[in-house]
Amino acid sequence: RIPMAFHFPSVSPSASATLKNCLRALAQNQVNSLNADYNATNADISNWASAASFYPTVSGVGSIDIQFVIATQNHPAGTGIANGTVAVTFGTNFLNGADEDPTWAGYMNVVVRNEGGILGYSPLGGYPGAGWTVVLNTWAFGSGSGCSGYVPGVPPGSVQTGINKGRTLTHELGHFFNLNHTFNGCGTNCNFTGDRVCDTPPSSVEQYGCPSPGSITSSCGTNKVLTMNYMDYTDDACMYMFTPGQMTRVQAWYNSIASEFNM
Ligand code: ARG
Ligand code: ZN
Ligand code: CA
Repeated sequence: RIPMAFHFPSVSPSASATLKNCLRALAQNQVNSLNADYNATNADISNWASAASFYPTVSGVGSIDIQFVIATQNHPAGTGIANGTVAVTFGTNFLNGADEDPTWAGYMNVVVRNEGGILGYSPLGGYPGAGWTVVLNTWAFGSGSGCSGYVPGVPPGSVQTGINKGRTLTHELGHFFNLNHTFNGCGTNCNFTGDRVCDTPPSSVEQYGCPSPGSITSSCGTNKVLTMNYMDYTDDACMYMFTPGQMTRVQAWYNSIASEFNM
């Protein structure tokens, strides 16, 4: 169980209860989809059955067997929250806008704020003991109808659409747990080139939109691009799986930092 804390720096603590309750519910909605994606219980995982034959190196779908929960306990290493408080904060200036804050050591932090055209970002291999965070844009957070100013999939201007199922956090936490993009490059030794995961087929070109399974031949050779993987750039509706190799790498990182979480 990984304790999470969600932060909305742009929402005043004196904002309406309606907005704050809506954002708490949206945070729980986001956690629910995260748990589904990381445990391969997402509804669209069934799409893999007809796609699998295009990807001979992938033995099945990856499942990590970890649950994310919104924290309700204080962590002795940080200030964080009082016991019994739900770790959703409003108006917290997360270390003056930077991406780590020792106050929030021991939590898997998510800061949701306006990031312009960026969906979100994360460190590659993160340290919760140092209060590191991942950042999501307001319109890349959660799924469904959202809340005022926080409507999933509705970006300003002409940036990428189709970001409406909470999968930006699935992707960013992949980075936090040490996963590279599946399009990280070509090479012959899969342990040391590309994404450093051997069952994901190599590619060096990110994919957008909603390609049919097996429809894109890799820039690296004759293999097909695993466009439905959470660590590519396709639309939320068209990414639905991790591989077993990715989950082995995630578990390795998790095991190295697990003691930093408040559990
Ligand atoms: N571009 C972002 C990154 O590299 C996130 C992409 C997430 N894609 C999505 N369909 N939600 O971290
Ligand atoms: Zn990424
Ligand atoms: Ca690979």
